[in-house]
Amino acid sequence: MPENLKQELQEALAQSRSFFEDLRNLGVTAVPVAELPAELPPCPPDVCGIDRGGSAVCRAETLDEIRADLGDCQRCPLCRGRKQVVFGVGNPHARVVFVGEAPGREEDEQGEPFVGEAGRLLDRILFAMGLAREDVYICNVVKCRPPGNRDPLPEEIAPCEPFLRRQLAAIEPEVIVTLGRFAAQSLLDDQAAISSLRGKWHQYQGIDLLPTYHPAYLLRTPAAKREVWEDMKQVIKRLRESRIG
Ligand code: URA
Ligand code: URA
Repeated sequence: MPENLKQELQEALAQSRSFFEDLRNLGVTAVPVAELPAELPPCPPDVCGIDRGGSAVCRAETLDEIRADLGDCQRCPLCRGRKQVVFGVGNPHARVVFVGEAPGREEDEQGEPFVGEAGRLLDRILFAMGLAREDVYICNVVKCRPPGNRDPLPEEIAPCEPFLRRQLAAIEPEVIVTLGRFAAQSLLDDQAAISSLRGKWHQYQGIDLLPTYHPAYLLRTPAAKREVWEDMKQVIKRLRESRIG
């Protein structure tokens, strides 16, 4: 904490202490306190970020507030080629968040992640896990479609990353599942091959993260579905354990 802020806090504390001591000396034994306003201000991300440290003076941001802050985003060149920002979809209190790479053509058209062929396969994977799309939250590392579906560039990921971080902090899921090489490498800041990252537990912002293959890869390589199912069984097990614990 900066020295001048510390000094200001100490002074404010000393002033309120002497205020209450004065009241006590006047014989006051109780102070009527108004109800706290229902709407506390959201936690400014640049102050508290993801670690709100149990602060009682501000609350976590909501997904709607993060979406409003993103606005008609012009923070990177992808805004020029996109039709719309694809923010994310699903349960704001999801226990599991799936993170893909970036919107493709259909996602850019519809404004929703994973609505194309890969998305339909993701829906089937969710169904097999006993989950519906509405139970989980689905989003991408990058919120705008890269031209020709190329991999997003570092200068496109960098301005987008804080928004994903804030979404995950707002949702506070128990498990993050990254889909494919790109999302795993980005969130873990690790260039290791997806074949070695997948199926092992990692952490992102203190949240358990399990990388698995991308459903688009499964469409090309159906034999890999078996490994994805092994990974999803680990997710189901982790969720069951945390319910009991
Ligand atoms: N692939 C992704 O990585 N994300 C989508 O939203 C769709 C396809
Ligand atoms: N390559 C990728 O980019 N993703 C996968 O899931 C598998 C191979």
